Amino acid sequence: MVTVVLIVIAGAILAYLSYCPLPSGIAEPWRIRCTNVRHIIPDLVARGAVYLGFADPLSALRNYYSFDKWLVSKFCKDEPSVTFTDTKFDGVSVRIYQPLEKSENPIPAMVYIHGGGWVLGTKDDYHYVVRYIAARLGIVLVNIDYRLSPEYPFPVPMEDCTRATVWFLQNAAADFNVDPTRIALCGDSAGGNLAASTSARLTFDEKYQNMGLPKLKFQGLIYPAMQAVDFLTPSYQQNDITLLSKDLMTKFWSWYLSGDLRHAEAMKTNNHTCRRVRVIQQRLLKHSLVPETFRMEGYNFAPNEESNDSRVCNEIQDTLLNQDFAPLMRENLTGLPPTYIVTAGFDVLRDDGIMYAERLEQAGVPVTWLHYEEGFHGIFTGYNSYNIGNTCMRDFLRHCKENL
Ligand SMILES: *[C@@H]1O[C@H](CO)[C@@H](O)[C@H](O)[C@H]1NC(C)=O
Ligand SMILES: *[C@@H]1O[C@H](CO)[C@@H](O)[C@H](O)[C@H]1NC(C)=O
Ligand SMILES: *[C@@H]1O[C@H](CO)[C@@H](O)[C@H](O)[C@H]1NC(C)=O
Repeated sequence: MVTVVLIVIAGAILAYLSYCPLPSGIAEPWRIRCTNVRHIIPDLVARGAVYLGFADPLSALRNYYSFDKWLVSKFCKDEPSVTFTDTKFDGVSVRIYQPLEKSENPIPAMVYIHGGGWVLGTKDDYHYVVRYIAARLGIVLVNIDYRLSPEYPFPVPMEDCTRATVWFLQNAAADFNVDPTRIALCGDSAGGNLAASTSARLTFDEKYQNMGLPKLKFQGLIYPAMQAVDFLTPSYQQNDITLLSKDLMTKFWSWYLSGDLRHAEAMKTNNHTCRRVRVIQQRLLKHSLVPETFRMEGYNFAPNEESNDSRVCNEIQDTLLNQDFAPLMRENLTGLPPTYIVTAGFDVLRDDGIMYAERLEQAGVPVTWLHYEEGFHGIFTGYNSYNIGNTCMRDFLRHCKENL
């Protein structure tokens, strides 16, 4: 009897701790809640460490994130067909994966830029994901371990990604038996932002054009973060849920922008912008780029016209409008490589991706846009936790097989 009571109490506590409000229509809510159970103890440890002064909130967040990725990786099978080594490309730390079996002919390759809000994540944290991709495709894969914000704000993470990618494009054929005309550049979330700015720089910047680099075969942008001007897009209004909240996303952007959290609070209401920025926003980030069916429930078309806080804006507007910081701020996208773009229905970043896909199409770039209506942020790296994640990963792998 006592045992039963204890089990019921323990169950109730677990259910309480793992509960998070989820919107109706989201895929696999019970799996999301079970994943939350996995987070309870590391979360308590992280909070306890901050509370007791053993760790600052940022390092607690990083350890928590790495622990979770490590835990997930324990449930992944080894990939005996792939070997990997740590090295540096033009001074940037990378891990490179190669098929164990050497091929006679040159093979394709992928450069992968991990997510984590420019703040979290290492090559170790993404090891299980990219090794899985490399094994399924039998290709060479580069996992870039770029330096992170807030210690290294913009442009350092982006410069690291560009430098490693350029070095690889120049040396892949000689050093890794790669066909340099068959290289894709991919990334998820903040990694999608870095992949998009890198491929745009390679396409448009004179410096790189003059190097005569091989063209990227395609870019793969998985629920990318593409702009820091409008935090009142329909999806920011509709999908502010715990899986990736607006609160965390504005912190990530602020850390990346200035190396601190000065702007995070103002960003939440678009109170960090001013007239000059808003004029450009209305041209490049029109809400009408998002199809009407996405703009219905829970969306209020009232961009914040009130704030004229020019002091803050003067300081940051050039970065906000910088097309390498925010790839959606680039005026002319004509000439970019074919693009595979993933968006998820329950994601604050949904409209960043939709707007980019729409503008690429208008610019005549071949676009493959996959929208997972019931999906949420993180499904791609959650390919072994969620059915919808598995589908998302399989669709991506199929696209790579057919296009790389
Ligand atoms: C926007 O910023 C101004 C000036 O700092 C402040 O007075 C105002 O309350 C802010 N508005 C919102 C909605 O936060
Ligand atoms: C902001 O500027 C507009 C015109 O640019 C003006 O009409 C409005 O009163 C200003 N608002 C505030 C809060 O200063
Ligand atoms: C965009 O760039 C392309 C190629 O450089 C050019 O042909 C086109 O005219 C430009 N479009 C606009 C609207 O400026």
